Amino acid sequence: PLPTPFRARLPIPRTLTPGRHPEHPGADYYEIVDQVVAHEIIPGVKTRLWAPGGTFPGPTIVSRSGRPTVVRRINRLPVPTVNHLHGGHVPADSDGFPTDLVFPLDYEPEHESMAGMPMVEDPSAVTTVGHRDYVYPMNQRAATLWYHDHRMGATGTDVWNGLAGFHLIRDDEEQALPLPSGDRDIPLMVADRSFNRDGSFRSPDTAMDGALGDVILVNGAPWPVADVHACRYRLRLLNASNARRYRFALGGLPFVQIGSDGGLLERPLTHSTVDVAPAERFDVIVDFSGHQGRSVTLTDELDGGPIMRFRVGDPLPDRTDVPDRLSEVPLLRREQAAVIREFAFQKGPRYWGINGELFDPTKPIATPRLGEYEIWRLVTDFHHPVHLHLAQFQVLSRNGKGPGPADAGWKDTIDLRPAEVAEIIVRFTDYRGRYVLHCHNLEHEDMAMMALVTVV
Ligand code: C2O
Ligand code: CU
Repeated sequence: PLPTPFRARLPIPRTLTPGRHPEHPGADYYEIVDQVVAHEIIPGVKTRLWAPGGTFPGPTIVSRSGRPTVVRRINRLPVPTVNHLHGGHVPADSDGFPTDLVFPLDYEPEHESMAGMPMVEDPSAVTTVGHRDYVYPMNQRAATLWYHDHRMGATGTDVWNGLAGFHLIRDDEEQALPLPSGDRDIPLMVADRSFNRDGSFRSPDTAMDGALGDVILVNGAPWPVADVHACRYRLRLLNASNARRYRFALGGLPFVQIGSDGGLLERPLTHSTVDVAPAERFDVIVDFSGHQGRSVTLTDELDGGPIMRFRVGDPLPDRTDVPDRLSEVPLLRREQAAVIREFAFQKGPRYWGINGELFDPTKPIATPRLGEYEIWRLVTDFHHPVHLHLAQFQVLSRNGKGPGPADAGWKDTIDLRPAEVAEIIVRFTDYRGRYVLHCHNLEHEDMAMMALVTVV
């Protein structure tokens, strides 16, 4: 039987304390052991997880803008891993390229079932055994990032099994704003899963639409409940589902959006609902004042079900505010672009592809030049959350009209609707090398809807 909604308490993933590494003086250093654990998600049974640091979601890392962060991922799982910092502006060799595998010691490949695309030999891959150090300069603004596995052909399985967590960046600009902070700044990782009777995750099948679960987990707990005060909160909404899109609603309370994938918006935007495709982040302020003694339920208007519940308690003296002006987001203009490229995200006979090609880690689909603005026209047949590594972009248009209500600010993932043409403007800076462009429906990604982008 499915768990009863609103029984589990909302877990808050623990924040790691940084250490030091002799080779990286001046950096915050973290070690995370990816390991198999059994944890009670559904009451009465245990679920075997592939857990970063022993938990799902993995621990939260909080970085300071401008201060390098080094993350050592130690692999004690039965499969190779690749760790990617989603939304990170990082050098190519730390980006988690899909073939840069980290093998566990004593790896036995026969234990593995690969549901995804056929493996292509990649002579440029840099694999390691036991662990890998990912070096992040953190030369980027405050934002809600997340980390997750990115193994070629197996990202869907690896993330489904638990390889994901938050990585927040803070900076002085954001800290100077009177936004809710501390306990009132809550990251919410929403992800659907299915379970077998014994509590194990039911493996995602490779259905064309992607893996959909029938239990909604928030920070790893099924339809949880959180006790809040009757005042303002900052909720960092992340859709970490493999394939499910949500239209969040909060029982009539408005969402005041202050940030997108790439950090603060210029000005707050008020929404009655927010559509969140896989991998997108919406940073919102919600004001529970005046709702003392009530329960407010976060629901998904697309499938009509609940996500989680907030039990509103006593008010608190609230000195927070949402200023009219949050940050500066320079509006990029079409005229700035020197290059226009087109990418069609379409279904092939057995796989999903981009411009009719399946992912080949050796053949770039584009070789953008460092520092140049480019317009990318993204054309689709179906829902595809399209994600680009290395750079945050801006949405210029959808179907010849302006950007949509959810497109404001810096984005690294765009929720493309069926039969849509969207234009984004992007500029790659600082790092050359191999990055990827892909659909963040993880089953589409694993069925080869991904392309090599080599920045030159
Ligand atoms: Cu969130 Cu290429 O990934
Ligand atoms: Cu897709």
